[in-house]
Amino acid sequence: MEIVLTGITTTGTPHIGNYVGAIRPAVAASWRDNVASYYFLADYHSLVKGSEPDRVARSTLEIAASWLAAGLNPASVFYRQSDVPEITELAWVLTCMTAKGLMNRAHAYKAAVDENEARGNRDPDQGITMGLFCYPILMAADILMFKAHKVPVGKDQIQHVEMARDIAARFNHHFGETFVLPEAQISDSSAVLPGLDGRKMSKTYDNTIPLFIEEKKLRKLIMKIKTNSQEPGEPKDPGDSALFAIYRAFATEEEAAAMRRRFAEGIGWGEMKQVLFEYMNAHLQAPRHEYQRLLAAPDHVEAVLREGAERARAVSQPFMAQIRDAVGLRPLV
Ligand code: TRP
Repeated sequence: MEIVLTGITTTGTPHIGNYVGAIRPAVAASWRDNVASYYFLADYHSLVKGSEPDRVARSTLEIAASWLAAGLNPASVFYRQSDVPEITELAWVLTCMTAKGLMNRAHAYKAAVDENEARGNRDPDQGITMGLFCYPILMAADILMFKAHKVPVGKDQIQHVEMARDIAARFNHHFGETFVLPEAQISDSSAVLPGLDGRKMSKTYDNTIPLFIEEKKLRKLIMKIKTNSQEPGEPKDPGDSALFAIYRAFATEEEAAAMRRRFAEGIGWGEMKQVLFEYMNAHLQAPRHEYQRLLAAPDHVEAVLREGAERARAVSQPFMAQIRDAVGLRPLV
């Protein structure tokens, strides 16, 4: 059995870039034979990104509802990180055997230091919390606790998975074979979606299309997607069009090929936007409906997460007992 695990930080509302790049492939993996999947809401990680309690709480519901509405296999273990206290317990044990120098080299920490230096701040660590500094250790605990083989992540997270690997190897060396060495699994670049302005779809650029936005608003946003000034009838380059890229992320091979021909024939941008809207709307209608149903039933979502946490703890509790023993935290008799 291959174990696949990934976490989603609870800081926002999922957009179609998240769907194409992370949610859809993860849901597909959850239905594969010979794969055991662990997907969790990384709510402790969200505390690193700021202090907006209501936003974290709301995001937890929205992300959980999105994954369920997208068709996650109920056989996969779906839980909230903070419901599994063994993870933070393990994080401390790992903190005690992780070289500070390893954390000094983490990209996110280095970027924060560079920014302080660029601003001429006398303290290079100004505004940097221990949460940000130790973020990769908590992430290592997430991964190592469930003996994950494969960790699907975006490119920006590869280094963190490699750090988890280093930390696991070091622990195994000192205390005996305990952890599985994980590997990052990168979604292919075709899964990076452009946003409304043509740049990568990202919360940072404020150019996203929320995944389950209501129909009228979806239409409005699609009408806003940036195009060039070519007229209807002029042949157009699909490789240079955000509209085409988004269409292709949802369409089949044949549909994409047919659309390439329509671009060559000079489909007008207005018409293309209408086609894209209708296509996406048809694709998202049923899961959107389910999403709305789940948002209105937080008690149900809560029950699903609690059940997931129970299943996760059936693994983490005995494993943590083994880890405590390995490092010498043992009952006296
Ligand atoms: N740091 C990841 C991100 O920002 C989220 C995350 C937390 C994660 N723990 C994880 C991803 C464990 C994979 C495995 O995207």
